[in-house]
Amino acid sequence: MIFAANWKMYKTPDESREFIRNLKLSPKQMSQVVIFPTAICIEAVATALKGTGAKWGVQNGYIESAGAFTGENSPATVKSLGGSFVLIGHSERRALFHEQDGLLAKKVKCAQNLGLTPMLCIGETLAEREAGQTLSVIDKQLKMDLEFFDSQKPLVIAYEPVWAIGTGKVATTGQVAEVHTDIRKKLVHYKAEKTPILYGGSVKPQNAKELGQLKDVDGFLIGGASLEVESFAQICATEK
Ligand code: PGA
Repeated sequence: MIFAANWKMYKTPDESREFIRNLKLSPKQMSQVVIFPTAICIEAVATALKGTGAKWGVQNGYIESAGAFTGENSPATVKSLGGSFVLIGHSERRALFHEQDGLLAKKVKCAQNLGLTPMLCIGETLAEREAGQTLSVIDKQLKMDLEFFDSQKPLVIAYEPVWAIGTGKVATTGQVAEVHTDIRKKLVHYKAEKTPILYGGSVKPQNAKELGQLKDVDGFLIGGASLEVESFAQICATEK
């Protein structure tokens, strides 16, 4: 299992350090943790996580290692600071910052080329689900976002139905199972069927156990419930 904490635009460096100090997990659980702090808090998190076995990444990484790209994060710098992951295509990046699949495909490639693991977020909106388009949306996102994907290098997929993010509306186990099984089947086509598939969208200690039992759920991408040490630690106790 992978337990990824997406802290979005929350936490100062001091708050980040305090969270990590108070996170009491077994070494095995700690090795399953990935923290995505804001770019400003990377150094604080990288230092605080040293020797714990947990990993960290950035919430957004650009398609180049360096250059005149004001405001962007260099994946090469992430690598040099000891980071492991780049979150790519989170629905907030897609909706609020207008990131398109063509750009996301290049982000996947750049992260992989630098030895970082892309954690690619995909998922349908409520309108798409209600129109019966969920699986075709997923298919299209995978096709476009994995255009330059190298199956010899690691990848993580996070299925996050947009309507379940930050809303308290968690997808049912039936809905999650259907989509995860479908993603697994589609990944065969990319020679990447071993790719971990995480679920994200209002994951809480109360629903983590049930969702974690599903065959093709390999962990969670957690927003709100990852901001409090207690709720995050409870989720990290989920066993397969
Ligand atoms: P949530 O966020 O757990 O608050 O729904 C998940 C995410 O945005 O990745």
